[in-house]
Amino acid sequence: MATGASTVNLAVILIDARKGVLVQTRRHSRIVAMMGIQHVVLAVNKMDLVGFEAATFDAIVADYRTFAADLGFASLQVIPLSGLTGDNVLVPSPNMPWYSGPTLMQYLNTVDTRSTRPQGAFRMPVQWVNRPNLDFRGFCGRIAAGTLHPGDAVRVLPSGVQTQVKAVLLGFDTVAAADAGDAVTITLADEVDASRGDVLVAADAPPEVADQFEAKLLWMSEHALAPGRQYLMKHACKEVTATITAIKYREDVNTGAHLAAKMLGLNEIAVVNLSTSAPLVFEPYAVNQTLGGFILVDKLTFETVGAGMIEFALRRANNIHWQALEINKATRAAQKHQTPRCIWFTGLSGSGKSTLANLLDKRLFAEGRHTYILDGDNVRHGLNRNLGFTEADRVENIRRVAEVARLMVDAGLIVLVSFISPFAAERAMARSLFESGEFIEVFVDTPFDECARRDVKGLYAKALRGELKNFTGLDSPYEAPTHPEVRLLAAQKTSEVCVDELLQTLR
Ligand code: ADX
Repeated sequence: MATGASTVNLAVILIDARKGVLVQTRRHSRIVAMMGIQHVVLAVNKMDLVGFEAATFDAIVADYRTFAADLGFASLQVIPLSGLTGDNVLVPSPNMPWYSGPTLMQYLNTVDTRSTRPQGAFRMPVQWVNRPNLDFRGFCGRIAAGTLHPGDAVRVLPSGVQTQVKAVLLGFDTVAAADAGDAVTITLADEVDASRGDVLVAADAPPEVADQFEAKLLWMSEHALAPGRQYLMKHACKEVTATITAIKYREDVNTGAHLAAKMLGLNEIAVVNLSTSAPLVFEPYAVNQTLGGFILVDKLTFETVGAGMIEFALRRANNIHWQALEINKATRAAQKHQTPRCIWFTGLSGSGKSTLANLLDKRLFAEGRHTYILDGDNVRHGLNRNLGFTEADRVENIRRVAEVARLMVDAGLIVLVSFISPFAAERAMARSLFESGEFIEVFVDTPFDECARRDVKGLYAKALRGELKNFTGLDSPYEAPTHPEVRLLAAQKTSEVCVDELLQTLR
């Protein structure tokens, strides 16, 4: 519904006359309002099952009006009907003489659904660049707002380069003007650089460009949203990586009350802060649905997991810049006569990660390497002491340690990270922080039963007795790596042999 709703002008919200306004009615109404649909029909169905009584209808309408008062609909038409008997669907009902309004079909045929929003300045996300020969370069896309004429001054964003429109084509015909909604090809007066995802805009009224936003988000996946996790974001014609940096609040669908939330479940609505890997040319969704709407996609399953609406850019984004440092990773590494690396051990609790990391550390140290170990149990005593073992906390646990490991690699060190790191998404995120070849994933592949048999810390016994919740491999998943750089069968070989194998790969 949410994906369809973004191009819709009117919504018919169905109510069962026997049941009245349900949680689901409120949820759908909030989604309709959030998507910017301004016109609503409240169709109170199954009137035949309540004796076609006016009192029942009036009570439901009163109830709904109270609820919808602050949703900001431009029009709300209420119609009592019966889908089974056809009353008030196509023809007026003889059973409800007390209703004098239009039938559903009469209303849909005559209602004016034009938007009451002002038409903005010209915007067109570039969908593709058509270059059949060296003499012709056409920028194709659908106009998201405004009117365009040959000769108009336009800007390409985010680069900001300015030029003029040479010609506007609708199909193969040059036209004197094109409007919002038209799919056009535009040629420009100058040889400017623009590609898919860039946005052509009116030169004198450009929209903002930013990479940090406050947005409204509808979560559409069974798998909860975890702040800090990376998702694919599709916005206009652009794809970037996005992270929810904070859930500001979740909305109670019944009352609209703001609730605190750490995660976001199926069908929940929230206001969030969002950070993107590249700047986006945007407008608030209320101003322009094309430049304000987006969807989030799971990077591993490609499932659409969320639909969102940008509300505004967070200003702090513009005030933090990378500090360029003169002594850099290469000079630091050269001073230490080594190649910095992040060696990332993943595996179940008790699989032997720390033992192997320790042994490798001793061998590297003995060779004069500059190393450091980041171990889950240790880091959780300090930097990550405020985190537990829920999915959200583990995501944040890995995000922090990955960032610390990156800093250490930047300092020229060989860093050994030993964390369960059970989720493929976060290990992929950690990998993405490093240059190619710098991140070495070591899967310590000891089976659950073997870890439980050894049970060095007594945690497996506790977890199996039900005294420890969210235990990895039991009631919290471990997503084994599919393509680790190294896989160590630590249950079948001695630690020395494992570390020999590891060193060989490293060399
Ligand atoms: S991770 O999943 O977030 O990467 P991390 O490696 O930091 O975990 O911490 C794992 C260690 O915490 C385990 O080795 C174990 O000693 C301890 N621990 C305590 N509770 C749990 C639990 N529910 N699941 C897994 N490990 C736990």
